Amino acid sequence: MEDVNLNSTGAKGINQEQVLLSVPVAKRALAIIGGDKSVDPYYMGMHEAQSNPYDAVHNPGGCIQLGLSENKLSLDLLERWFSTHNTSPAPEYENFLNFKAIAGYPDVYHGLPVFRKLMAKFMDDVYGGGVTFDPEKMIITTGATSAIEILAFCLADPGDVFLVPAPYYPGFDRDMKFRSQVDLVPVPGLSENDFCITRAGLEQAFQESEIRGKKVKAILMTSPSNPLGKTYSRDQLLMILDFVREKEIHLIADEIYAGSVFGTSEFTSIAELVLVPPFNPSQVHIIYGLSKILGIPGFRVGLLYSWNDEVVNAAKKLTRFTSVPTLTQQILVSLLSDSRFLQLYISENQKQLRERWCLVKEALQEAGLPSVPCTAGFFCWVNVGQVVGVTSKEQELDLWRKLLYEVGVNVTPGSACQCTESGWFRLCFAFVDNQTMTVALDRIKQFVDSVR
Ligand SMILES: Cc1ncc(COP(=O)(O)O)c(C=O)c1O
Repeated sequence: MEDVNLNSTGAKGINQEQVLLSVPVAKRALAIIGGDKSVDPYYMGMHEAQSNPYDAVHNPGGCIQLGLSENKLSLDLLERWFSTHNTSPAPEYENFLNFKAIAGYPDVYHGLPVFRKLMAKFMDDVYGGGVTFDPEKMIITTGATSAIEILAFCLADPGDVFLVPAPYYPGFDRDMKFRSQVDLVPVPGLSENDFCITRAGLEQAFQESEIRGKKVKAILMTSPSNPLGKTYSRDQLLMILDFVREKEIHLIADEIYAGSVFGTSEFTSIAELVLVPPFNPSQVHIIYGLSKILGIPGFRVGLLYSWNDEVVNAAKKLTRFTSVPTLTQQILVSLLSDSRFLQLYISENQKQLRERWCLVKEALQEAGLPSVPCTAGFFCWVNVGQVVGVTSKEQELDLWRKLLYEVGVNVTPGSACQCTESGWFRLCFAFVDNQTMTVALDRIKQFVDSVR
């Protein structure tokens, strides 16, 4: 049959798709589609690794995923827990899988009271007892991503600036810019001091933004750092707290990798420091979630924790757009109630991460590739560019393409993390199994040997 539709004037000959495409969408939707070119390689690499995945038997020439910060090293443990427990909650939590309780609108959208209570207890345990979290200051969201986005919305107006120590997690550009239209200004770290944040760097970025007529509203940082894979010392965190106090701006500490520290360095939460005078806790907001510590990003459970009543109240209302389904919360109530298992899981997971990092570190050393000492997270920050003489962003992207399409590994180029020194890459080491990791490291070594 002829594919003919009538358009709004009743004329024949235009099919419905053409009519729909001719109606403009909002400029902000087009801006999202156009995107930020500097982070394109992050998403392109992800696409290549997903569409042409390595498989030792079925696709041995495929691409190995080292660009995704996901931890599968201890997933078997958790899978076993779920298969041997009927996810029925402890007796004090009634109504589990009571269909009517799950099917109806929840009383609140920022997390069931029982779920927030257990999340607060879980965080107390993960953070090592140095801090106590209050469920009333907690907003549960669909993944940490939504918590970050809500904070962007609550702390800045369109065009305002957040300072971000660089290199930084490439997802921040999406989370901050897509809807809230916050400008991210990288505060460059340098390899000569392992990319540490300095007071001078923050001051310079602050002054330059103000000169451009931009209002700086916050510092946004990951602690432990993604992509550097390291923790910050108390002194560094105190310096940052001093800075936000003096400038009267906010601090967002994304601590989603707390609990994934496996090296000798200690993790200090910003929560341990901010409650002591002269700091003002209402300037500080923490991001957390279960995606990393439990390796379950598919459950989409994140949270923001704030001492600022206005932020908490606004965020509660915003969670109408981004609430975690009651069913998911109920299933996790059961898991979070088993603190003995969780303790075991976390320490086993840290052991797995430590062992995997040792394997990677040895291979990188053998290949002669310098990296920042790594003690946390699922990734390391490694300089591949030096051996091939990379000195510019263009050369770095050429090298990235070679690694992706010829060598067959997806790593994230430093430029996508806004690193000012060319040649650095983020290599995620917890997504693939041991055998695949070894193949990836062999591929990298062979490539490096061939170009040296
Ligand atoms: C620092 C950081 N924050 C947030 C996220 C996103 O977390 P979620 O999957 O819970 O949205 C990631 C994921 O890689 C991350 O590395």
